[in-house]
Amino acid sequence: MRIILLGAPGAGKGTQAQFLMDKYGIPQISTGDMLRAAIKEGTPLGLEAKKVMDAGQLVSDEIIIGLVKERIAKEDCAKGFLLDGFPRTIPQADAMKENGISIDHVIEFDVADEIIVERMGGRRVHPGSGRVYHVVYNPPKVEGKDDVTGEDLIIRDDDVEETVRKRLGIYHDQTKPLVSYYQAEADAGNTQYHKLDGTQAVDAVSQQLAQLLG
Ligand code: AP5
Ligand code: ZN
Repeated sequence: MRIILLGAPGAGKGTQAQFLMDKYGIPQISTGDMLRAAIKEGTPLGLEAKKVMDAGQLVSDEIIIGLVKERIAKEDCAKGFLLDGFPRTIPQADAMKENGISIDHVIEFDVADEIIVERMGGRRVHPGSGRVYHVVYNPPKVEGKDDVTGEDLIIRDDDVEETVRKRLGIYHDQTKPLVSYYQAEADAGNTQYHKLDGTQAVDAVSQQLAQLLG
């Protein structure tokens, strides 16, 4: 099963990716996590990406498309994968098509901007795995610690309110057009398009997902 999770920053893509990975046994491909790993390793890509990400801008299509193509070619993606945070521009979506990579389900997470700003203020992440928590809505078992490894949770550098608002602006300008792009793909019979109410509680959103994916 090949799935695209489409939604604004903070809409809950990473949170539900965790649920879907466990349920369907397919890997999560999060371009954001891949870029953060490159930053941590101090690679040339990481150094370049850090400036762009801290400013709330998008990394170039060329770099991102290269990363994803390389990742999808790996063996663990043979049974399917979960794209989280990709594609987020029309050229990125076109690149998938041009490379013959079909998608079974596109899932749009619908959440209003003001809810997102509030969510990002309480987000905590485990940098090693990309696991996501919220101090109120999805707290870890032990405050400040990852449930699985017990390691420290951190606040992402791009979660300051000013940067979150910038990222939301870019989402509306550059990523939202993918909604009609994939609705048209669904009309042409090339994929299935689903819109989810992402404002419900984490478990309720997971239930909606399980129902529509079967
Ligand atoms: P990326 O890491 O992809 O960030 P994003 O798309 O902005 O999305 P987020 O990770 O912020 O949100 P999410 O939807 O995963 O929400 P989450 O589940 O964490 O990208 C970061 C940067 O990398 C980009 O800005 C860009 O620079 C670059 N980049 C990445 N991909 C790129 C690409 N394809 N092209 C170009 N550049 C790229 O949830 C958020 C919070 O809400 C958490 O605290 C969570 O616990 C909580 N929460 C989740 N669900 C619920 C719920 N139902 N109710 C209450 N709280 C909830
Ligand atoms: Zn995420």
